[in-house]
Amino acid sequence: MSNYHIKHLEEYYKVYRNSVREPEVFWEEIAEEHFSWRKRWDKVLSWDFKKPEVKWFEGAKLNITENCIDRHLRTKGNKTAILFEPNNPDEEAQHITYNSLYERVNQFANVLKDHAIKKGDRVCIYLPMIPELAISLLACARIGAIHSVVFAGFSATALSTRINDSDCKMVITSDGSYRGKKSIDLKGIVDEGLEDCPGVETVLVAKRINSEIDMKEGRDKWLQPLLNTASKECEPEIIDAEDPLFILYTSGSTGQPKGMVHSTAGYMVYTAYTFKNVFNYRTNDVYWCTADIGWITGHSYIVYGPLANGATTVMFEGVPSYPDFGRFWEIVAKHKITQFYTAPTAIRALAKEKLDFVSKYDLSSLKVLGSVGEPINEEAWHWYNDNVGHGKSPIVDTWWQTETGGIMITPLPYVTPTIPTYATLPFIGIQPALMDENGDEIIGKQVDGRLCIKFPWPSMARTIWGNHQRYKETYFSAYENKYFTGDGALRDAVGYYRITGRVDDVIIVSGHNLGTAPIEDAINEHPAVAESAIVGFPHDIKGNALYGYVIMKEAGESRDPDNVRKEINQIITEHIGPIAKLDKIQFTSGLPKTRSGKIMRRILRKIASNDILNLGDTSTLLNPEVVEEIIDNSL
Ligand code: WTA
Repeated sequence: MSNYHIKHLEEYYKVYRNSVREPEVFWEEIAEEHFSWRKRWDKVLSWDFKKPEVKWFEGAKLNITENCIDRHLRTKGNKTAILFEPNNPDEEAQHITYNSLYERVNQFANVLKDHAIKKGDRVCIYLPMIPELAISLLACARIGAIHSVVFAGFSATALSTRINDSDCKMVITSDGSYRGKKSIDLKGIVDEGLEDCPGVETVLVAKRINSEIDMKEGRDKWLQPLLNTASKECEPEIIDAEDPLFILYTSGSTGQPKGMVHSTAGYMVYTAYTFKNVFNYRTNDVYWCTADIGWITGHSYIVYGPLANGATTVMFEGVPSYPDFGRFWEIVAKHKITQFYTAPTAIRALAKEKLDFVSKYDLSSLKVLGSVGEPINEEAWHWYNDNVGHGKSPIVDTWWQTETGGIMITPLPYVTPTIPTYATLPFIGIQPALMDENGDEIIGKQVDGRLCIKFPWPSMARTIWGNHQRYKETYFSAYENKYFTGDGALRDAVGYYRITGRVDDVIIVSGHNLGTAPIEDAINEHPAVAESAIVGFPHDIKGNALYGYVIMKEAGESRDPDNVRKEINQIITEHIGPIAKLDKIQFTSGLPKTRSGKIMRRILRKIASNDILNLGDTSTLLNPEVVEEIIDNSL
């Protein structure tokens, strides 16, 4: 019992030491005491990072929805499980109790079954932040179907690529979505995407904006009438601990997005345990994570982690700027939010506005503030601390990844003294390592290197859907016997970690991971473009923005450059989504390349960041003369 909620620093160190010395003993105790199982495991952990293969709680049987819903009904049936705050502040918030969540999930699960969805089938979910989104995840989990949520800001092409990659049989969507003043035709995007997805048999459509949409005979069905007649009881499918719970796509530095596969038992145990400790969750708290469920943060810390703890979790449909820049704080005051978890990009955007938007609200309910998705800069940290937390709510700067499933390096509020920009200490059970360029571990304090994890943790992704080899190459080949994160980090004199950013070609824009290769592929589809290279450069609000260097084909050189710029961003929007649009596009006659033909992005990054004094040695390039030209014309 004692290990479940850590209350002071010595206790953290003690529990951490135990978790590392005897991981099996440690995790077994957590799993045993805080979850319900249909059958106990035969073995707590088996692992081999060379294959790589990791199994937690092998042999155990369970259903995660029994842990997230059923077991709370006896004592918390009338407690709010999901508190839905609509886009429009005049529309009433909805309190979905655990009793009602139980019924709605079961009804939805029965609808899935009626449409031939069974254990192991993949279901794509493309929904805005409405209750049906959380409910559809849980409905899939109830019957053992594997959900693959695609963020509803992705384009039709991005959607169809993801549907086909994991052979989804069904898509769950809505007629449209609200985003601030705008409404978006989601069903139209789905229809377009599905032109290339022959495997999709059924599309279930939730009604949200009451727009006129096309319904394809035999394929498309309105969800609500089906739910209305479905039974409120659905026996949970009994799942093996290692059976996949979901697939979630994340960008890689090259190639197609990677469908990270998460297992059931380990994911449940780790997200629940981290939720309890990282947010210092107590029974009557009202917890709000502003992420979209389309990202891992929403999966782990809007849906599964909070519900496994019987918490009240807020789902917000709208945006921070609507109807004005005070919306977040209005919601905090209205629902007396106790934990508030958001991204640095949102904080930076709000910090730019008049202080009155935040100062006029009573934020005294807040106890913990969280940050996730990218490094939080010192200025944003202080603004958050001073104006939202009033110096009283600790900020937890949580470092983790889609691949890690749960929070990995983080302070524990009221336990770990914080320092701005430091994610501080590894969570219980997490064994980080910093590596040097020769592949050796860097021991000691005040050092920096590439961040790896050298021991398995329960919620790590088990594979990439359909491509285990790529999983091995991406994460387990750079350093022997270690999981490589793709991030750099430093460790200070007391052992605190500070994440310094990506060391590969992934660029984090407004907290969203974007791989350079898919964007370049999209640009190269433009008939006038011969070649392109994308780099990130610092941006006040987004953290990073995208800078594109584009070589035009001879035929395109007479075109108006501004028109071509617009068309390039249009193509990117169609292929990926508006989040991947370029802020700057520079036309150039060449790109700096090594003698083996590799683009020297390091040089392009420096030029884009206006850091041209430290370009380093360019004389070994294949075409050093192009560097001058690029500098002269830089934007
Ligand atoms: C970055 C989001 C610094 C990092 C949960 C990581 C961070 C990538 C932090 C994963 C943080 C996330 N400080 N950087 N607190 N949190 N990152 O998969 O580069 O969307 O590798 O998961 O975001 O992004 P993803």
